[in-house]
Amino acid sequence: HSEHSQLQNEGVLERIDCRSKGGASGFKVAVLGASGGIGQPLSMLMKMNPLVSVLHLYDVVNTPGVTADISHMDTTAVVRGFVGKEQLEAALVGMDLVIIPAGIPRKPGMTRDDLFKINAGIVRTLCEGVAKCCPNAIVNIISNPVNSTVPIAAEVFKRGGVYNPKRLMGVTALDVVRANTFVAEVVGVDPKEIDVPVVGGHAGITILPLLSQVNPSFSFTKEEIEYLTNRIQNGGTEVVEAKAGTGSATLSMAFAAAKFADACLHGLRGDAGVVQCAFVASEVTELPFFASKVRLGRAGIEEVYPLGPLSAYERSGLEKLKKELLASIDKGISSVRQ
Ligand code: NAI
Repeated sequence: HSEHSQLQNEGVLERIDCRSKGGASGFKVAVLGASGGIGQPLSMLMKMNPLVSVLHLYDVVNTPGVTADISHMDTTAVVRGFVGKEQLEAALVGMDLVIIPAGIPRKPGMTRDDLFKINAGIVRTLCEGVAKCCPNAIVNIISNPVNSTVPIAAEVFKRGGVYNPKRLMGVTALDVVRANTFVAEVVGVDPKEIDVPVVGGHAGITILPLLSQVNPSFSFTKEEIEYLTNRIQNGGTEVVEAKAGTGSATLSMAFAAAKFADACLHGLRGDAGVVQCAFVASEVTELPFFASKVRLGRAGIEEVYPLGPLSAYERSGLEKLKKELLASIDKGISSVRQ
């Protein structure tokens, strides 16, 4: 009897497998680091995204459980789990979008740069996999320090002969999400109604919110500008300290990353007017990478927008951040070139 039901099960499973490999429309998305604090809620949010037809969850641990769990959600995307180095390539083949939240997070007293040694190696390995298995995928880098890990990814892709700057983005969406929230609090409106451009990089003073360009426009006092700029630049540290040694932002980060990934997918689908801030290869300043507004489309980044008119306060912030940002970029590049 049990042999019979096993055969029956196999028949059903085979049919399910065939269907799940069939030409479902929609995009194939991989999350690398899917078992982590960011990875789990991000994977859940991507499973809820109607533009996703296939969702690959990769990590060095625990993906079988996360995958089993998420796969029971009754949304369209077919979920598959991959665990350990040997399965990285299988996780990546055929992907349209690869989102990378793998790596260690900060503890109180640490800067993002303190994560460099470990996370640089992780990002490098994962991007080598991307270069080999899905060189045309859009890549969203979340692993910190973003100011260095994005240049690292670019170098790895150059080495593999597959670098296309339009397809590589550092995720700074959480800076924008925080800026919108904190500004909405001060102005007294629904954060949904607020759009704050945040430019520069993704660490401390390299995060430069452009409060003079808030949409809808609002005129802040000098004290409000200082309070908001400072809170946006240190939003990550606020969470690290509140979590008291157990990690950094994960839920708000997953939310921000899912919003950003959704924008990338809308761009890939050919929607018009998809604009987000991201840390990208740039000619907006003299630095080789810089975060600013970009327009997303079928090719990835279709256009990098200039910074626009800045206030005196923002101009001075911009000059101050360049040195630190350039040092982080150079550190990333030279770690691969060595
Ligand atoms: P976590 O420690 O909870 O999760 C990281 C996951 O990466 C773990 O599941 C771990 O097994 C996995 N991992 C480690 N090595 C791996 C490898 N070689 N391949 C695949 N997976 C690997 O950390 P959390 O909180 O999820 O943070 C992840 C990263 O995101 C950190 O670097 C953190 O600094 C960064 N982050 C970035 C933000 C941003 O705005 N861009 C905001 C918040 C965090």
